[in-house]
Amino acid sequence: MSAGRVTAEELVAQALAARQRAYAPYSHYAVGAAVLAADGSVILGCNVENAAYPATICAERVALTSAVAQDKRDLVAIAVATENGGSPCGACRQVMAELGPRMTVYITNAAGDYRTTTVRDLLPDWFTGEDLV
Ligand code: THU
Repeated sequence: MSAGRVTAEELVAQALAARQRAYAPYSHYAVGAAVLAADGSVILGCNVENAAYPATICAERVALTSAVAQDKRDLVAIAVATENGGSPCGACRQVMAELGPRMTVYITNAAGDYRTTTVRDLLPDWFTGEDLV
């Protein structure tokens, strides 16, 4: 399966590589993310924890906000890598809906076994800017 010029397998591999950079000394739950932009560029993220736990940033939001900072606004797909193939948290789903509502989402475990879904399926009946009338 392909997503633009970067295949799903390649994006998953990038998320797995990003996971190696996770700073997770408290939970020891390393997460990596790789966002694919429409121009073919890939933006990486990993979770970055903090001794003040709520200051922790999830891998997905690191990648998605970095994409914005790199002027990548047309986002095609995101791959998320954890040890066990865990699903993105609610806050990350909300940010996906904001910044990449049409993204395909690949969720992989550490072995590279991934499943495919969409932001829409992860967050049905979403709240977006269109609701702010
Ligand atoms: N985490 C993510 O990076 N993404 C998610 O979608 C779920 C949770 C991180 C936050 C924290 O560093 C660790 O996983 C355990 O919650």
